[in-house]
Amino acid sequence: MGEIMSFWEKKGRIAITCAKGLPPFLKEELLSMGFPILSEGLAHIETEGYATDTMRLNLLLRTAQRVLFLIHEFRAKDSEELYRNLFEFPWETYLPEDGYICLTSTVENPTIKDSRFANVRGKDAIVDRLREKYGRRPDSGPKRDKSVIHLYWRGDHCQIFMDTSGEPLSKRGYRAHPLKAPLQETLAAALILATGWKGEAHLINPMCGSGTLAIEGAFIGLGRAPNLLRENFGFMHIKGFDESSWKALKRRVRAESKDFLKGRIIATDISQQAVEAAKRNAISAGVDRFIEFGVCDFSETPLPAGGGVIIMNPEYGERMGDQEELKETYRRIGDFFKKRGLGYKGYIFTGNFDLAKRVGLRVRRRFVFFNSNIECRLLEYDIYEGSKKTAR
Ligand SMILES: C[S@@+](CC[C@H](N)C(=O)[O-])C[C@H]1O[C@@H](n2cnc3c(N)ncnc32)[C@H](O)[C@@H]1O
Repeated sequence: MGEIMSFWEKKGRIAITCAKGLPPFLKEELLSMGFPILSEGLAHIETEGYATDTMRLNLLLRTAQRVLFLIHEFRAKDSEELYRNLFEFPWETYLPEDGYICLTSTVENPTIKDSRFANVRGKDAIVDRLREKYGRRPDSGPKRDKSVIHLYWRGDHCQIFMDTSGEPLSKRGYRAHPLKAPLQETLAAALILATGWKGEAHLINPMCGSGTLAIEGAFIGLGRAPNLLRENFGFMHIKGFDESSWKALKRRVRAESKDFLKGRIIATDISQQAVEAAKRNAISAGVDRFIEFGVCDFSETPLPAGGGVIIMNPEYGERMGDQEELKETYRRIGDFFKKRGLGYKGYIFTGNFDLAKRVGLRVRRRFVFFNSNIECRLLEYDIYEGSKKTAR
């Protein structure tokens, strides 16, 4: 028998999950980092690389939710086969003696009525193996802040991954003040990527709420890694994790980001409380000096000469807001774009397509996204003299 390789020496398949609608953006990110695309699903992309690459992926990817490294694959018809295969696997090379284990799972197997059962059996196998090797039973439970293992069991095919992210990557660590209806950070990043804004022109975000679009915009414009603030990742709890190479990677990535933006970022909201929260979030994110905040009706947001992107996420009546009032708001957004936004590209992110019609401008492009499972669109409007439909 050859010696068993440590996790950190492995090369293999990496499945990166994301929200529905985000794979095209995730794919672009991966290609620009030099990773191959092996397959693309509705809410994930598969690539390959070294286990050490998962540190870079976790740190740099803006639209990913979890980075899963495949460590084992086998056939199991039922939970007994699952148990046996997992018990025979050398978990002691992956998991520390004094660790805490969380097993997450996606199960589509005809013999398993309740996926919680597969989960319990799987976790028992891992824990029993470690007890046999270490002479003590490791702690386990639902918390994802230590070692996280993911079981993907479809038919009789099982794949076992180390979840190198642990907590989802949308938890960047800067949003202590989310207010109501905040966008998920990964979705906000994808929306800015969809506009093509890279920091050269102005980025205007009326109705900024807790500031997610402006903050993710600042990260993108500065080329700043989105997860530099996070102190905990799943990979830190895999045996053999080398803290010094992680620190060196963070130093390199920090040194590569810019310290200035050519374009201005302006974020406003009618709610003083929202603007205060957005400011505090921007301070936590370390980008407050790149964002100009203001309290005003969206129509009074300053639009400096030079053009750029105006991006707005108005309420759309699913979770809050009143339909009649919102119809008028959307109509006024159309007026705002047309009357004040010459030279800018206008974007509205909404889940209410009837309300969107009230804007009254021609949509040039539309992107489909999902916000907490509600199908949404990012609508791009060309703003030029006489662009109002009714004026033609
Ligand atoms: C859906 S929330 C935006 C959430 C934001 N994208 C985030 O991630 O937190 C809509 C925001 O529009 C603001 N708003 C509503 N009517 C407004 C108006 N007439 N002018 C400016 N802001 C307005 C609300 O205060 C709320 O913060």
